[in-house]
Amino acid sequence: MSKFIADIRPVLDHTSCEQVQWLGKSVWGGTGEAVAPNPLLITLTKNGGILLAAYLPDGPDELDGMVGFVFGFPAHERDSYGQTVAKHCSHQLAVLPNFRRKGIGLQLKLAQRDAVLAQGMTEKITWTFDPLQRVNAIFNLESLGVISQTYIKNAYGDLDDDLNIGLTTDRLQVDWNLTSPRVLRAIARQNQDTLSHEHLYILSEPKTDKDCNVYIPTNEKYGALAVPLPNKIDNRAKSEQANLSLWRQFLESALTSAFDIGYTLSGCHALPNMGHHYILITDPKT
Ligand SMILES: CC(C)(COP(=O)(O)OP(=O)(O)OC[C@H]1O[C@@H](n2cnc3c(N)ncnc32)[C@H](O)[C@@H]1OP(=O)(O)O)[C@@H](O)C(=O)NCCC(=O)NCCS
Repeated sequence: MSKFIADIRPVLDHTSCEQVQWLGKSVWGGTGEAVAPNPLLITLTKNGGILLAAYLPDGPDELDGMVGFVFGFPAHERDSYGQTVAKHCSHQLAVLPNFRRKGIGLQLKLAQRDAVLAQGMTEKITWTFDPLQRVNAIFNLESLGVISQTYIKNAYGDLDDDLNIGLTTDRLQVDWNLTSPRVLRAIARQNQDTLSHEHLYILSEPKTDKDCNVYIPTNEKYGALAVPLPNKIDNRAKSEQANLSLWRQFLESALTSAFDIGYTLSGCHALPNMGHHYILITDPKT
C-alpha cells in the first residue's frame, strides 16, 4: 500500500474537537461511550494535553479532511524505587478505516512523540492495548518499539463498542521510552533482538480450557518465549465468542506467568509457517 504524507496539526477549537468525536464514534461505534466528551477534550488540550489530528486532501469533507487523531495528557507513575516520575498517558489513537495502512497512524504517533519531547516534562509515553488485537500488537511492538511488563485484567470494565463488546477489557500497558535505542531503531526500521530458535520456547495455540493454565519453564536455556495470538478477531460474531474467551484466558495466563518470572514483551511477528507470536525475552536490548 502506498504511503501518504498527512498534514498533522494540533486540535484546539471546539469545532475540531467535535470532528474528533465524530471520527472516534465512527471507529469505535456502539453508543459512543468510548469517546471523551467535548468539554473534557477542550479542557485537557488547554491544560497540557496533546490532541493532534491528521488531514489529507481526500479526507472526508464533513471533517475538513481529518482522517485520524491521537490524544493524551501529562501524567505520572511510581518507578521501581517508589519515586513519582512524570510520563505522558496516551488515551486514544484512531485512523478512519478507508485511510488505514497508509502510514497515518505511524505519523500521528511520531508527531505525538515530538510534541511530548517538546513539552520537556518526560521522555516516556504509556498506553494500553488489547492483547487479542494483532494489528495493534504489530503496530505498537514492531513499528514503535514499545515494551510491556504489565497485564491489566478487565481494565475498563464492560464496554459496548464494536471493538470490545462481549469481551472483558484486559489490556497490556506499554512503555514507549521515546529516546531509548530500541525506539530509535524501531523508528529507523532497524531490526531489534535477534532470536535463536534453539533458545526459543514456543507455546502451542489453546484448544480447550485445560490449555489456559500455562506453564512456562524457568530453565535458563530459554532466553526467549513465543506466545501465539489469534488472527483477525470479530467479537461481534456470536460464533466467535467462545473461541475469543479461550484466547483471552490463554493470553492472560501466558503473559502474566511470563512477566512474573522476568520476561519482557518486546515483539510480535510471524514465526516460519506458524503465524504471529508475541516474543518475550529475559534480557531485552534497551
Ligand atoms: C491501529 C491503527 C491506528 C493503525 O493505523 P494505520 O494508519 O493503519 O497504521 P500505519 O499505516 O501507520 O501502519 C504502521 C505499521 O503498523 C503495522 N500495521 C498496521 N496495520 C496493520 C495490519 N492491518 N496488519 C498488519 N500490520 C499492520 C504495520 O507494521 C505497518 O507498517 P507497514 O504498513 O509499513 O507494514 C488503526 O488500525 C486503527 O485506527 N485501529 C482502530 C483503533 C485502535 O485500535 N486504536 C488503538 C491503537 S493502539
